[in-house]
Amino acid sequence: MKLKHFCLIAAPMIAYGGFTCYGETIDISTPNTTMLLDATLGQPLRFIYYGDLIPQAQAGQIAESTGWHTAYPVYGMSASRETAMSVTHPDGNMTLDLAVTGTESSVRKDGSKVTTVTMSDKVYPFDVRINYLTYPDNDVIETWAEAVNRGKKPVELREFSSAYLPVRRGDVYLTSFTGSWGNEAIMVEEPLKPGVKIIKNKDGVRNSHTAHSEVMLSLDGMPRENEGRTIGAALCYSGNYELKIDTDDSDWHHFFAGINEDNSAYTLGKGETFVTPALALTYSPDGKSGVSRNIHRWGRDHKIAHGNDLRKILLNSWEGVYLDIKEDEMAQMMADISSMGGELFVMDDGWFGAKYPRTRDNSSLGDWTVDTGKLPNGINGLLDMADRNGIRFGIWIEPEMTNTISELYEQHPEYIIRPTNREPVLGRGGTQAVLDMSNPKVQDLVFSVVDTLLTRYPRIDYIKWDANAPIMNHGSQYLTADRQSHLMIEYHRGFAKTLERIRAKYPDVTIQACASGGGRANYGVLPWFDEFWVSDNTDALQRVYMQWGTSHFFPAVTMASHISAAPNHQTNRVIPMKYRIDVAMSGRLGMEIQPKNMTQEETDLCRNAISEYKTIRPVVQQGDIYRLLSPYDGKGVASMMYVSPDKDKAVFYWWKLETFVNQHLPRIRMAGLDPDRMYTVRELNRIDRKPLSFEGKSFSGRYLMSNGLEIPYTHNTDHRNRSAWSSRVLYLE
Ligand code: GLA
Repeated sequence: MKLKHFCLIAAPMIAYGGFTCYGETIDISTPNTTMLLDATLGQPLRFIYYGDLIPQAQAGQIAESTGWHTAYPVYGMSASRETAMSVTHPDGNMTLDLAVTGTESSVRKDGSKVTTVTMSDKVYPFDVRINYLTYPDNDVIETWAEAVNRGKKPVELREFSSAYLPVRRGDVYLTSFTGSWGNEAIMVEEPLKPGVKIIKNKDGVRNSHTAHSEVMLSLDGMPRENEGRTIGAALCYSGNYELKIDTDDSDWHHFFAGINEDNSAYTLGKGETFVTPALALTYSPDGKSGVSRNIHRWGRDHKIAHGNDLRKILLNSWEGVYLDIKEDEMAQMMADISSMGGELFVMDDGWFGAKYPRTRDNSSLGDWTVDTGKLPNGINGLLDMADRNGIRFGIWIEPEMTNTISELYEQHPEYIIRPTNREPVLGRGGTQAVLDMSNPKVQDLVFSVVDTLLTRYPRIDYIKWDANAPIMNHGSQYLTADRQSHLMIEYHRGFAKTLERIRAKYPDVTIQACASGGGRANYGVLPWFDEFWVSDNTDALQRVYMQWGTSHFFPAVTMASHISAAPNHQTNRVIPMKYRIDVAMSGRLGMEIQPKNMTQEETDLCRNAISEYKTIRPVVQQGDIYRLLSPYDGKGVASMMYVSPDKDKAVFYWWKLETFVNQHLPRIRMAGLDPDRMYTVRELNRIDRKPLSFEGKSFSGRYLMSNGLEIPYTHNTDHRNRSAWSSRVLYLE
């Protein structure tokens, strides 16, 4: 067995980054955090430390003086513990016994550094490579594993986690996100107790409706927003995942993250490498919001398509007209959003289908040709209208899907996912089927849907890419009989390949990931998507909760958040326009409404809000988040803020969640400001007859953070406009 062990960066003192050798100790540091590992040749890779930055001079001593864990536990030779990888060798041997055979590090063009530790099985021709990627400018470590079959016969992978992290027991709390359609990203906080906690997804296509592949671990007791040592972990994968925390009889919690292996045993052929998706890890001493800020910054800089660009303010047609697309109404909606200062109009579902026009949700997916009955002047007619209104135009597609009532299905029934010898299970409308993205011909087809639209209509600025069905029945008509268990994985490889092709040709178009609402809020898709639809539920009150959860890992620039009608179409709740605006303005602002049904007063409020949003947009979309009071705390109010990176501007949100007579709401202390700077306060979207007592006055950051402002509980409006609802948005400059 060839052993290689070399250290590419010889100098022991580097400011951050990356990689230094201390004998066998590997230091994976970011500007403010350190992970220490021991890669002694002939031993398994060992985990030593993860947390606050360690001066490099101390790293060796820490390594020598603390205990250690196997950094990537494997199955077979210490079988009583949960493991990150298990395999069956060609001769039936089910064990792995790994030892370090080499460590390499390289610097990429963008300044990021990858450190790879290779472990080889002591007997079998099988390697596991553990990778750590860091960036010079933020505190996230991306880590993933690769399995390499150096042998001549296939090896079966039964478990294949991306990463493992031991977390010292004490008083550790888990924050995770659960939910369902219309109620996405609901936050759950619980102490970690003995036993195994599993968070996983099995949808096959979408992966963030019911549970999220991101968690936080608060190491110092009950999770707090702006203090307490906290670890954040986000699995960057578009498909089925599994996060597992085993609290066994030791002093440690054992955290594993990776692809969900259920029904996905993977045969790794001769000479092949299996690459797992990355787990993004971060550590912050500043609580959950500190973790959010680290992840948001990393996301915007490195993971989200156009993460550092501002998003346009749009009107989407769905809740305005649903499938009932008509050219004159599209024209009217474009004129209306343009007159309110909006910048983009998105035509949603219902515009396509020639032989089978899309009048209901049971037909036409796959037939991406214009329904000229609804749109006599086609897409070009709409693009001309958008031009005349000085706005851009976007369009809805659902390219991974078809209906059995469609020309596509008639021509290519072999493209859908279905088991052999059985009728396929169908979804939405009783006819929707999922196209088999493992099939290269389907990948070409999906690419061509986007390619045709964007070549034929280069003025299209935005695509809403939807996905409204899970993999309901297991079976690929493309994969061979002995590779059927690869379907869930190959689907997402095909999806990734297709999106790569699309982005290579169309780097500039804005693409929204929608999947029956918030089914694709995940860093696995964001490299190709600019944003995602948080939920099909646009009710402002419920959005406070959903956006609160979503904001833990995803910055406002990704969170599509639209003003919709009252009564709300999902909850029937009647919430005044002011409150609907104030909630929508905390994300990527848009509208999802038929503007012609709004009152003049509502239209004026929206026009004003859009103009104000343009002022605060850089702070909201590119600023640092500080969550202040959680809606989940049951204190009757929720509050959060965004602060510009230079701390010279901030936007503060306050949403009352319930109303009782003689209620006592807490005063909210702000966070993240410069204590010595003076901030002038201006209320946005004011509906009160008189300005607030602090309007136009200046306060030090210290006062705002130690005391806070007294926010009136109700709005001082004329009688007609009184309601139980109250909210405030304050701009601090
Ligand atoms: C899904 C989306 C909606 C809308 C409809 C169209 O439900 O989440 O926003 O686009 O599909 O059919």
